[in-house]
Parts: sequence; structure tokens; C-alpha cells
Amino acid sequence: MAERVVLAYSGGLDTSVGIGWLADATGKEVVALAVDVGQGGEDMNDIRQRALDCGAVESVVVDAKEEFGRDYLMPALKANAMYQKTYPLVSALSRPLIARHLARVAKELGADSVAHGCTGKGNDQVRFEAAVAALAPDLTSIAPVRDLALTRDKAIVYAEQHNLPIRQSAANPYSIDKNVWGRAVETGFLEDPWNPPIEDLYEYTQDPAVIKDADEVVITFQAGVPIAIDGVAYTPLGIVEKMNELAGAHGVGRIDVVEDRLVGIKSREVYEAPGAIALIQAHEALEALTIERDLGRYKRGVEAEWSNLVYDGLWFSGLKRSLDVFIDDTQKYVSGDIRLKLQGGRAVVTGQKSDASLYDFDLATYDTGDTFDQSLSKGFIEIWSLPSKISARRDLAQQ
Ligand code: ARG
Repeated sequence: MAERVVLAYSGGLDTSVGIGWLADATGKEVVALAVDVGQGGEDMNDIRQRALDCGAVESVVVDAKEEFGRDYLMPALKANAMYQKTYPLVSALSRPLIARHLARVAKELGADSVAHGCTGKGNDQVRFEAAVAALAPDLTSIAPVRDLALTRDKAIVYAEQHNLPIRQSAANPYSIDKNVWGRAVETGFLEDPWNPPIEDLYEYTQDPAVIKDADEVVITFQAGVPIAIDGVAYTPLGIVEKMNELAGAHGVGRIDVVEDRLVGIKSREVYEAPGAIALIQAHEALEALTIERDLGRYKRGVEAEWSNLVYDGLWFSGLKRSLDVFIDDTQKYVSGDIRLKLQGGRAVVTGQKSDASLYDFDLATYDTGDTFDQSLSKGFIEIWSLPSKISARRDLAQQ
């Protein structure tokens, strides 16, 4: 029996041509695997059929949307995950999930290798291959675009020569990756960071400059996970979809940033992630209400570490697993309601409540009924500032 390779298939030009290209270059049978992570657009059945028409011996479609929401987006939300404080890890979150299915299908169908359509310049190649290595150390990873020199020009020629049933997307100058957590747009005129983004780039968000009547939503969380919007229950996936719709209508979550890739390149990225940004803001507000100061401060450091690990392709690593345990433990009391006002590109928290709130009105109030004994503050500050006072005396004496 011929050896087999399972290719992560998107239905686009590169991976469609990649099927024949891989088969020609390696002699292996190519199995196509298309994973639905809520990227929308084409019918997954059309994508499945196209892979067969392009020469795949088998074509598998996985609807992983709920899994993505539950097992990847909710951990990211609990971690308030933002790479370099700006990027909610849209692509970085989908790669380990796709890699998990690649490894699973490879095992089930007796393949000895997997393949993906990434170039050699980005993070996604690292994420796919590092995840596969961690899950199935015996599988080999092949990248036709990178390792077998499949350039875009060659792909177009190949598709024409072999009469492959793909619409020429050569006209689209952007490299776009999307899923239910957001959309990433790169290349084209954006490669000059001085060029402002144009309205055309966006799909999940309306122009935030067009101010509409504000929308107010109440998001209910339970142990760090949003479970309802305005009292209506949703799955994690459903919550993210609903928030994309609500926050997207007000242009929330547009991001334009120069970002540091793992491979050393700085790249200009335009993202839109309306649901992700609104949910992270709501989640952070609920944590502010329910998590004690030191734990919150320590967690913010863990969040940055977690985000770096996931950005760098180490989803299936020991450190990431251990940080997840810590983060999960912090979420025990992160339950309650957050009211968000959506307008003009912003999601603003306007209300917060929780049965596990640490906010004590009687301690906080400046009105009568105050239970905080202000006379204790005087002695507290004496002792708190004692080290400063002693060292300042020394510094002055030594001058
Ligand atoms: N720079 C982002 C990241 O590394 C987005 C990558 C988008 N991928 C793509 N093939 N356009 O996560």
C-alpha cells in the first residue's frame, strides 16, 4: 500500500494545488482534511468535493466549531489572552485544534505524515508542526509551499494545466485567516505600515465611525465561562457568534498593529475580533470584582506567559498545561453578570454584579454607615513606609 499524507485543506488555491504537488513530489496518497472552525464562507461539502476533484484519495470534513469554542476559546477567555497586549490569538488558537485532527486522522487512516499550506515565514507553520510533534511524535510534517517550492505563480500555472476546479483568487492581494474568534488580514498594501487600513478589509465589523444607537447587553458568566446573553443561554460557540454579531455591528474589536513573529520578522497585521474583545473586557471586569488583588496581579503575569506560549505554538506543552490548571483555579468565583454598552467601536462595562463579589459597599462608601475604621490607616502607613523612611535616611547621610 502506498504511503499516505494527511493535508490540512482549506479549499483555496495553495492547498488545492498542494494535493497534486504533494503526490507528485512524494509519491504518497493525499488525504484532505478540512476543519470547520467557523471560518464561514463556502459550504464544507463543496470543499470536501473539491479536494477529491483535485486528486485526494479521501476527503474528510470535521465540524469542530463547538469543540473550538469549548476547548480553545474558553481557555483563551479565562486567560484574557492577548499577545503583546493587542492580538487575541485568532489564528494561534485554531492551529492546535487543526493539528489535533490531522494527527487523529493520520492515525485512523494509516498515514505516516501530515502536511499544511503555510509558507516558511510565518508562525502558523511552527504551530502546526510543534503541535503535531507533541501529539504524534512519529509523524513527519511536510509543507509543500515551503519545502516543495510551491509558489503562488506556480500554483496558478499548475491549476490551469491540470484544469483544477478552483476559482482564481490571484486577484485578492491579502492573506486572510479567519475563524469564529476573529479575522486576520495581512500583505498587499498593508505591508507599508504607514498605509491606513481601508473599509474594504473588514468583514466582521461595521465602520465604528458611523455611530448608531447604543446597544446594551448583559453577559452572564459561570466560573469564568459566559453562559448567557440577556438571560438567553448559549453554548460557548453560540456566545461568541452572538457577540460577534452584536459588537461587530458597532465596529468593536478592530486592531491594527506591528507584531513580532516567532521567526523574527516584524509584520503589520490588521485584525477584527468583535466578540473576542467584548468578551475579554467583560471577563476582566468580572475578575476585578471577584478576584483578590494579589491573585489578580499574579494572574496578569500568567496571562502574558500563556499568550506567548500559545502564540509560539506550544499549546500542547507541559508549561501551558500547568498554567491552565492555575488559571482554572482562579475562575472558581468568576461568576455573575456584566453589562456592556456597545457603541462607536467600543465595548464599555457599565455594570457588574456577582454573588461572589468582593466589593463591600459598607467598606467602600463615604456616606454614613461606613464600617471602615479610618483611624487604623495611620499606623498602617507608618509601618508600610518604614523601609522607605530608613533607606531614605541612609541615602541622605551617605551623600
Ligand atoms: N500574525 C497572526 C498570527 O501569527 C495571523 C496569522 C494569519 N495567518 C495567515 N495565514 N494569514 O497568529
